Amino acid sequence: MNRPSPRPQPRIPTPGAAPRERLRVLFAAAEAYPLAKVGGLADVAGSLPLALARLGHDVRLIMPLYAAVDRARFRVRDTGRSFALPLRGGQETARIYEASLDGGVPAYLLENQRLYGRPQVYGEADDLERFLFFGQAVVEAPQQLGWAPQVLHCHDWHAAPALPILHRRRSQAPERYPWASLLTIHNLAYQGPFDDRFASEAGLREYLPEGAIGGSLHSFLGLGIYYADQVSTVSETYAREILTSEYGYGLEPVLQQRRRDLSGIVNGLGEGDFPAQDPHLVAKYDAKSLSQKAVNKAALQRRVGLPPDPHIPLLGMVGRLVEQKGADLLAEALEPLLSRAQVQLVVLGTGQKPYEEALADLARRYPRQAAVQLVFDASLASLIYGGADLFLMPSRYEPCGLGQMIAMRYGTVPVVRRTGGLADTVADCHQGSERGTGFVFVQYTAKALLGALGRALAAFQDQGAWRRLQLRGMEGDYSWEASARKYEVVYRRALERASLS
Ligand code: GLC
Repeated sequence: MNRPSPRPQPRIPTPGAAPRERLRVLFAAAEAYPLAKVGGLADVAGSLPLALARLGHDVRLIMPLYAAVDRARFRVRDTGRSFALPLRGGQETARIYEASLDGGVPAYLLENQRLYGRPQVYGEADDLERFLFFGQAVVEAPQQLGWAPQVLHCHDWHAAPALPILHRRRSQAPERYPWASLLTIHNLAYQGPFDDRFASEAGLREYLPEGAIGGSLHSFLGLGIYYADQVSTVSETYAREILTSEYGYGLEPVLQQRRRDLSGIVNGLGEGDFPAQDPHLVAKYDAKSLSQKAVNKAALQRRVGLPPDPHIPLLGMVGRLVEQKGADLLAEALEPLLSRAQVQLVVLGTGQKPYEEALADLARRYPRQAAVQLVFDASLASLIYGGADLFLMPSRYEPCGLGQMIAMRYGTVPVVRRTGGLADTVADCHQGSERGTGFVFVQYTAKALLGALGRALAAFQDQGAWRRLQLRGMEGDYSWEASARKYEVVYRRALERASLS
């Protein structure tokens, strides 16, 4: 994989450039922690609204009410408001519920038993229809609630149908829909594609523009990119990468067209993500008590059945075992690593069968060096962040990535590929240098990954320098505040572009 050259330059927001004013923002997302969580989107939709609320904005969240949402825990109550909307020749009703979340951000939950009364968030055969309805309902709900946003902030393809609909309504009745819009892309590979038949049945044909761009817009995400006032992604590097055919997944033409309205803002970490507060660690620690990390390392080795040894470098990986995360690269690179070097490895995650099998096979053949746990286990994940020496994230592409930031906060040194948010958050530590927070490689090859691992293992031998490297990572600012201020700037741009301010 070669990096694109020359690199296109999207506009990067400058924080602090806009005058402060309390904004009303509606967050529309298919998942938000702690109500429902599948992936990193839930972390963002759960914590960015809180950070914006702390800056003084009136931020509210809207999401479907899945059967998996714990109604008792979040005190989910009926607002008594409901509305009906046409859906593919029929009609569906949404009833609005409200939940209470910590931090005072109101969450509106849309109830429709047929569409959302199931445990799964995604992965249903009728996902297109479920989220088409969600997008329509997002535009309708504020009319019922007597509270309207100034900015509608949609996340990923599931909320994107709201954007063409809002655009149309706003041009027909600007006084009723004076809202600007922002679409944030968390992963361009998931687009919600539809065919001509669905477009006709769903009434989406009228939104498809003429010409070449129109041909590539047969997806909810594509329409969202075309119609949103502003578009953002979750790192500056990913915002540049998605303009290329290598990373654009076919949407690079419409992204190119919108490049003046495209920006990249890196995610932050939640306030609870500190090793001094993590209840799953055997020994809590911070920069001043970093030696306690050894206690977690011993506990991790015991828990996964590896020989306890404080001196052997321990590599950890937590994440989905899919190509995006570099699972194919790992499967290829780990065998030569384990056979040649004195290292231990712990992998935690589930994913595509061939990668699960390759890694499980490795653990069978190197039982004293490798442990592979093909499950999702939050407490073991914490122990890996807290107990490992190195954290692997060799992603093929990574819009932002949270694991590398958690690892750095925990004093666990990341080994990452230079892509997306990994490029923006991890600085390479060159040999003998007292700068950098991890080990970065460029080419998507097992050889390049092994090269970075070789440098990391050599650096591990100098424990004094290693400790300073750990501390540089731990001192980094991964809070949401700086990012929330950049979103303020993008909201203002959206309002300007919609000429509503
Ligand atoms: C997606 C991306 C990941 C990002 C997350 C939150 O899961 O794959 O890189 O961190 O969204 O934005």
